[in-house]
Amino acid sequence: MEQLDKTLVTDAARSAGSAIPAEGGNPVIAPSTDRPRILVVANQKGGVGKTTTAINLGTALAAVGERVLIVDLDPQGNASTGLGIGHTERKVSAYDVLIGAALIEDAIVPTKVPGLDIVPSTMDLLGAELELASVQRRSHRLRDALSRMPRHGKTRGDSDAEKQSTSRPYSYLLIDCPPSLNLLTINAMTAADAILVPLQCEFFALEGLSQLLRTVERVKTSLNPRLDIQGIVLTMFDQRNKLSDQVASDVRSYLGDKVYRTVIPRNVRISEAPSYGKPALVYDHRCAGSKAYMKLAAEMIQRERRIRQSAA
Ligand SMILES: Nc1ncnc2c1ncn2[C@@H]1O[C@H](COP(=O)(O)OP(=O)(O)O)[C@@H](O)[C@H]1O
Ligand SMILES: [Mg+2]
Repeated sequence: MEQLDKTLVTDAARSAGSAIPAEGGNPVIAPSTDRPRILVVANQKGGVGKTTTAINLGTALAAVGERVLIVDLDPQGNASTGLGIGHTERKVSAYDVLIGAALIEDAIVPTKVPGLDIVPSTMDLLGAELELASVQRRSHRLRDALSRMPRHGKTRGDSDAEKQSTSRPYSYLLIDCPPSLNLLTINAMTAADAILVPLQCEFFALEGLSQLLRTVERVKTSLNPRLDIQGIVLTMFDQRNKLSDQVASDVRSYLGDKVYRTVIPRNVRISEAPSYGKPALVYDHRCAGSKAYMKLAAEMIQRERRIRQSAA
């Protein structure tokens, strides 16, 4: 297992307002939830930054000591590839879990980022919708699988240290969705506590967003009453583009403080990282995009703390 760059860990911890990890050690900050918070990263539009957000937010959260599981529910498998999971490591995948051929803990593979695991996806997922069409509770497949999973997934490793770290419970589950409001996305929304929406500031963004929010309302009424809107993240923001500004302010006036203050800029380093099988935060943690994702993680952790306090 790779060690995370120490400056990344320190920067991330500092911006999250957590204790800075001791010299040389992995960050050991108590997980901030007593049951995992399940967030679905969704937007029916492709190429808006869902996968990038799942990977880099997951990495930033792991860097400050949270234990994170990403569930890759997109047949394209970009989250799996972007985290360096080769096809030989996908023997058991999200597809097997959904059709009931495997337990979710048997599908989990570790990434090179300590504290960050993934349930990988394969192209098989393309067939899941059809195969599940006549199955009972077909929208609840992921939720049921997660409710049977031990809190820590699966203990693994040869050394005591590795066994100990993999027996820590997950504090965040991030579900990466395909670019569609299909049965896979519905499964994710049914399993989740809240939805995180990456939104690209472009002409039709608001229309797409209202369609997505209508789906959330439908899922709330029929499948998952607790589903909340965790937040909207403006992605691939282009400062030189006036339209970006206009759309951003429209989204903010429409959804108020559900919209994160942190905006993710368009940044070439972010788009390079997946071809190295690394999160941008590991590939180049000092680039503007990585810094923005760290800030986003910090803002998210603060928002999550407030949500927990008001629920307590
Ligand atoms: N902030 C960014 N700056 C530059 N390129 C980005 C940024 N975010 C994502 N990308 C690139 O844009 C493409 C689409 O992003 P991705 O996260 O895969 O979107 P989605 O999962 O919504 O389809 C990818 O090639 C990704 O590397
Ligand atoms: Mg994607």
